[in-house]
Amino acid sequence: MAKVKTTFFCQNCGSQYSKWQGQCTACKEWNTIAEEVLQKPEKSDWKTPTSTNKKRVSKPLLINEIDASQEARMQTGDAEFNRVLGGGIVPGSLTLLGGEPGIGKSTLLLQIALKLPYKTLYISGEESQKQIKMRAERINPNSNNCYILTETKTQNIFKQIEELEPDIVVVDSIQTLHSDYIESSSGSISQIKECTTELIKFAKETATPVVLIGHITKDGNIAGPKILEHMVDTVLQFEGDRNHVFRILRANKNRFGSTNELGIYEMQGSGLREVSNPSEILISKKDEDLSGNAISATLEGMRPLMIEVQALVSTAVYGTPQRSATGFNAKRLNMLLAVLEKRAGFRLGAKDVFLNITGGITVDDPAIDLAVVAAILSSNEDVSLPRDYCFAAEVGLSGEIRPVQRVEQRILEAEKLGFSTIFVSKYNKISLKNMTIKIQLISKIEDLVGFIV
Ligand code: TYD
Ligand code: MG
Repeated sequence: MAKVKTTFFCQNCGSQYSKWQGQCTACKEWNTIAEEVLQKPEKSDWKTPTSTNKKRVSKPLLINEIDASQEARMQTGDAEFNRVLGGGIVPGSLTLLGGEPGIGKSTLLLQIALKLPYKTLYISGEESQKQIKMRAERINPNSNNCYILTETKTQNIFKQIEELEPDIVVVDSIQTLHSDYIESSSGSISQIKECTTELIKFAKETATPVVLIGHITKDGNIAGPKILEHMVDTVLQFEGDRNHVFRILRANKNRFGSTNELGIYEMQGSGLREVSNPSEILISKKDEDLSGNAISATLEGMRPLMIEVQALVSTAVYGTPQRSATGFNAKRLNMLLAVLEKRAGFRLGAKDVFLNITGGITVDDPAIDLAVVAAILSSNEDVSLPRDYCFAAEVGLSGEIRPVQRVEQRILEAEKLGFSTIFVSKYNKISLKNMTIKIQLISKIEDLVGFIV
């Protein structure tokens, strides 16, 4: 019997070792090295040996002679998805979509597959054809371009692909795939690497785009070796709070476009709905003015987004006041409270402060600071802010109001949505003319206090 070849892989970064060791030399993680059975393939290829497909032979070309127009993109029929990809799917590209379990990755890709005007093959290793059909009925019952295959062995998958010749292939998920050339189990580092390599070869040789779903680990990274992210052309991240309806699609890496774009979806009973104007939903429409609410003009990627901040300031019952923030960095909240105490003389040390960003969104744009401060002051004084005020500035440690990037874009969005006044830093350079919105320039926190109290 032939000796079984094994090798050791770090389950965190994918580095390969010839023998076991306690710590990975490459990523310095402990206890991540595991043995995997490996059989070096004589010839690992996506094609079956009988295949007659012609290989495209690559030749060096002068850069000026390369025809870039052939990289025409395939429109997916989903404006948000197209936008995040930079204008559609590039033929021959490999896209990896990661996200927490239950966030809606399968739903998103099935929905896109059903809408695509191309012959699509949706391969699932996780659900049966019936289950997928049931889901498809909820989303879009009449689609006649989409084929469903439930298979996990790559050699069988490629056999079907050669027969069907799809224009786009979707794989749910890369962790369930299994190649005959490697003996370790599905989801192991060497299997993921091998299956991805085969899919890349297939994609590049036939110019068929492949979209993969990838599981993520508990700390939010895509499960499998880090090199998986290097191998693919685009890494998309689908995120959101499972208890809220909003989902955000971001590009973490994109060889064919910017990573600043993002797509917003709303999870409904009939699948994911594209949200083309997110600001309108994120701001609750109430007739009454309530204290403790302030609206911030933030940017998520390239898109301006009006977000409502709610604060509740109340007298502390216990000796140590509570501070809690949802969707906002708690350390930053403590810093802003200290600034208010020291620079503006508010006695917040004996108060409980709760902060919430509505819509289940997490914001790390520093421009939200001013709205946070305004909401806290409004709740503390129990005076409501006019509903048509909004804020966009960072607050510094000495209470100065600092400028933020792309302030004009924020102002334009605020004006479009009918706000009457926007508070920004005096140090921003603004060259907008003939605006109906009032641009209130302030330079220190006391200036804001004057407007609220
Ligand atoms: P799913 O796509 O299976 O998640 P993932 O593949 O990322 O694990 O989505 C699962 C969740 O989406 C599930 O909790 C139910 C919800 N959902 C809806 O709310 N509406 C729908 O139309 C569908 C198909 C799913
Ligand atoms: Mg799934």
